[in-house]
Amino acid sequence: MEVIRPRRLRKDNVTRELVRETRLSKSALIYPIFIKEGSGIEENIAVMDGQKRYSPDRVEHAVETVIKAGIGSVLLFGVPEHSRKDETGSEAYNENGALQQAVRKIKSSFPQINVITDVCLCEYTSHGHCGLLKGKEVDNDGTLSILAKVAVSHAQAGADMVAPSDMMDGRVQAIREALDQHHFTTLPIMSYSAKYASSFYGPFREAAGCAPSFGDRKTYQMDYHNLREAVRESELDVLEGADILMVKPALAYLDVIAKLKETFDLPLAAYSVSGEYSMIKTAAKAGMIDEAAMICETTVSFFRAGTDMLITYFAPEIAAYISEGR
Ligand code: PBG
Ligand code: ZN
Repeated sequence: MEVIRPRRLRKDNVTRELVRETRLSKSALIYPIFIKEGSGIEENIAVMDGQKRYSPDRVEHAVETVIKAGIGSVLLFGVPEHSRKDETGSEAYNENGALQQAVRKIKSSFPQINVITDVCLCEYTSHGHCGLLKGKEVDNDGTLSILAKVAVSHAQAGADMVAPSDMMDGRVQAIREALDQHHFTTLPIMSYSAKYASSFYGPFREAAGCAPSFGDRKTYQMDYHNLREAVRESELDVLEGADILMVKPALAYLDVIAKLKETFDLPLAAYSVSGEYSMIKTAAKAGMIDEAAMICETTVSFFRAGTDMLITYFAPEIAAYISEGR
């Protein structure tokens, strides 16, 4: 028998590019931005080399860079002053909170950019949990009305989409109902539907000041031993009215991305989180790896696994690599 030669299609760059099964697009990238209360702030985040916290009056600066890179969506996180935190996270729905101000600012300067807001309480509660406490337990049902208020306040500030990341049961339905009541019937919900309790969030918790003051998030975020549970969690979110599903983190969860892609017909997002970012940044800085090559390889793996869009701190770099045809 004649030798079968898959190498024929690897013979040069043009041929390899021609037969690529996975092609990236800038329009599939979402860039996360940290909004810190105050003014004149543009400060480096030590644990996430290259990322910054911006006060609302400086955020246009960041967004301008993002737009120039050809990226169409940002995901905003609020970082309030310590003194604003309380038991119930009430600052999260302050109509003049830093995040709400930033949304207004961005939408008035750049109406074309898609502003997605993270809906959670951990940055705003004195105890750092994503929901209200009843004793030492996180009170699921008591949290829902607060999350709904937060989502409505983001919508009123001009957000184009809300992304609940708290992992309370029933939160998508509570948020959907509240948005609809306030006539935001066309505002989509991107649900963090399969969000695992992960050590990869470490740098983010430092960046956003939202580490829990006691215990961990394992009673609400998912156990990483489970895959079928991700299907069940996502199914519930679909029934409750989610418009986009999400897997988070991304790199250690490619099987979950593939599974949700094959199971659901809704658009799917993957979130390559802070720990994934900082691992690559730190190893590159130490001269151990080629940063650009590793960004490209890991990014392609998320899309190859089946994600439709990607939330990543490397979005501007990836956009540049796409332009260069890497
Ligand atoms: C808050 C939230 C977290 C992340 C996004 N939203 C942290 C957490 O759940 O502890 C992690 C993002 C990242 O690590 O980049 N609920
Ligand atoms: Zn949270």
